[in-house]
Amino acid sequence: AGRRPLVAGNWKMNGDLKLASAMQSALQDADLTDLDVVVCPPFPFLASFDSDKFALGAQDLSHFESGAHTGEVAAGMLREVGCQYVIVGHSERRTDQQESNELVAEKVAAALGAELTPILCVGEPLPVREAGDELHYVSAQLDAVVTRVGAPQLSKMVIAYEPIWAIGTGNTATPEQAQDVHAHIRRHLSKANAEAAAGLRILYGGSVNADNAVQLFAQPDVDGGLIGGASLKKDDFLAICQAAK
Ligand code: G3H
Repeated sequence: AGRRPLVAGNWKMNGDLKLASAMQSALQDADLTDLDVVVCPPFPFLASFDSDKFALGAQDLSHFESGAHTGEVAAGMLREVGCQYVIVGHSERRTDQQESNELVAEKVAAALGAELTPILCVGEPLPVREAGDELHYVSAQLDAVVTRVGAPQLSKMVIAYEPIWAIGTGNTATPEQAQDVHAHIRRHLSKANAEAAAGLRILYGGSVNADNAVQLFAQPDVDGGLIGGASLKKDDFLAICQAAK
């Protein structure tokens, strides 16, 4: 559909400097033309990466710009160590740190304010899927952000659809399930900004591996992936990147 594929690796709270160095070399030597690749390691490892072939992303940011907020990391600091992207509203943070739709929206605003591209995560828990309510649920998550930052900003964002029941479970959404929700997201956002919605990259996340990536990425509204576990293994991650081309 003319959208450039994007594959982002979310290391979560995994890895070390040795993995950072191995991944840096492996990606630097790989053919990463025709797609955008983003590595999102834990904060302490960000500054050890340096590449013009792939981009760097953080896993979270503060909604504050600076000041007395112990333990928080500001958007401007992420820029300074070379980040171009930042994951916002991952379901693990929505659960573990009780991040609300409103806080997530503030964080997206902070990212955009520093010219970082937010990778906004949305996705439903299992009971919502079982009740057949996933499209409503995801729409509400999106609306909170669009209301806060305004529809014109959609052109500067990436969305990741991650059904919570598929994250780290091996229970990948089927390509049809992913496509259904991705198409819904695009349709829903096109009511706010049709042009941005058409160009918006919507990533699928949740137990993507080197084997299932090809079929998932072949769906018309799946523009790449947000990869957890498999992003820690360089051969798997590279295979997933190739599958997105
Ligand atoms: O951010 C990545 C996702 O939560 C997916 O994780 O690939 O380990 O299921 P996973």
